[in-house]
Amino acid sequence: MTRKTPSLRSFLIGLIVALCLSTPVVAVAAPFPALPEVAPAPTDNPTTPAKVELGRMLYMDPRFSASGTVSCNSCHNVMLGGDDNRPVSVGVHGQTGGRSAPTVWNAAFSSAQFWDGRAATLEEQALGPIVNPVEMGMSDIEQAMQRVRGVPGYAAYFEKAFGDDSMTAEHAAKAIAAYERTLITPNSPYDRYARGDTSALSAQQVQGLKTFTEVGCNACHSGAAFNGPALPVGTPFLNTFPVYKDNAYVAKYALDADTGREEVTNKEADRNRFKVPTLRNIALTAPYFHNGAVATLEEAVQVMAKVQLNRELTPQQVADIVAFLHALTGEFPAQTMPRLPATTGWTFEFSSAK
Ligand code: HEC
Ligand code: HEC
Repeated sequence: MTRKTPSLRSFLIGLIVALCLSTPVVAVAAPFPALPEVAPAPTDNPTTPAKVELGRMLYMDPRFSASGTVSCNSCHNVMLGGDDNRPVSVGVHGQTGGRSAPTVWNAAFSSAQFWDGRAATLEEQALGPIVNPVEMGMSDIEQAMQRVRGVPGYAAYFEKAFGDDSMTAEHAAKAIAAYERTLITPNSPYDRYARGDTSALSAQQVQGLKTFTEVGCNACHSGAAFNGPALPVGTPFLNTFPVYKDNAYVAKYALDADTGREEVTNKEADRNRFKVPTLRNIALTAPYFHNGAVATLEEAVQVMAKVQLNRELTPQQVADIVAFLHALTGEFPAQTMPRLPATTGWTFEFSSAK
């Protein structure tokens, strides 16, 4: 025996021990797929650069609100997390609605839109806020489209996007939806991990992922967008919230005050049923829940464990899950504010803005 062999052996053993000790939890397989790099589009509205360009303009343009001050971006700010970081949104004339603005980032991966899933598609959703009395406050879509037609410069963009310059509500909705399909955030640390880069998550984040699945969060927050299984377009993945009502959180945060899906279907079985929201970029979209009642992600995780799973998490488990949720913050495609076609003359009668 040379003196080399035992030292090589002990070196190898040492190496194996060191590897095991330094990466104790990396063995967790990624249970959910990475977010696709392209959002699916319906066959009657393929995403094209011309539609995206027009859609971005309409999205940013406040002239289609009654007061001339509120655009989609007012409440779904794409320079931020795609929401307004308010408990409930402020629309025209300073009015507030009853629900918190969800993020538009990755809404394209949702099988239905709104907290109660009442709109099947982004196209169907897009014109709703314009005529919502507390959002953009126009009396009807035709009135809003008159405003669009009142901006002559828009004609060329409709022409480019749809092959004719008819400025219809259908075309406006399709353009906005096409733009929204570009608002996706792939390549988060979790996505890189799911594609095999085990160094993309910290040890605590891997532990958090493990805890997330062990305590059962994934019963609802599964799939690439962490909003449930892939369902046909128009079918929301709904769940009762809160499931367990016998705890202090429900009263403290008025979690059962909004009847949710029941408002849409008038069925008692749908009381307090809500769409399972995406957890992508959740670290950026406080405050949390449909009523925006919970200020921090730590508290939201504790509330969820209690009201959905009847579990108390240890502070360590909460910290680990929160660390993991931070790994769902993706890469945001750069957003540039468009130049909007000019208002020619004083053609609009805006209601007084407050
Ligand atoms: C005054 C604030 C406000 C404005 C302006 C506004 N929204 Fe919203 N948006 C909301 C709120 C609040 C909700 C949730 C309502 C609900 O679920 O009942 C919502 C929901 C949505 C959703 C559903 C997301 C999901 O995950 O379910 C999309 C998409 C969306 N809005 C896009 C738009 C577009 C496009 C515009 C402009 C045409 C717009 N919004 C204008 C506040 C606003
Ligand atoms: C039984 C289904 C279910 C389970 C299990 C579940 N969730 Fe949820 N989750 C939901 C629903 C439904 C909502 C929407 C609640 C609402 O209406 O505000 C939600 C909302 C959330 C939100 C707030 C999202 C936002 O945009 O404001 C977070 C964060 C969250 N869940 C994390 C978790 C974590 C972490 C776990 C595990 C401890 C978990 N959830 C377990 C169904 C579930």
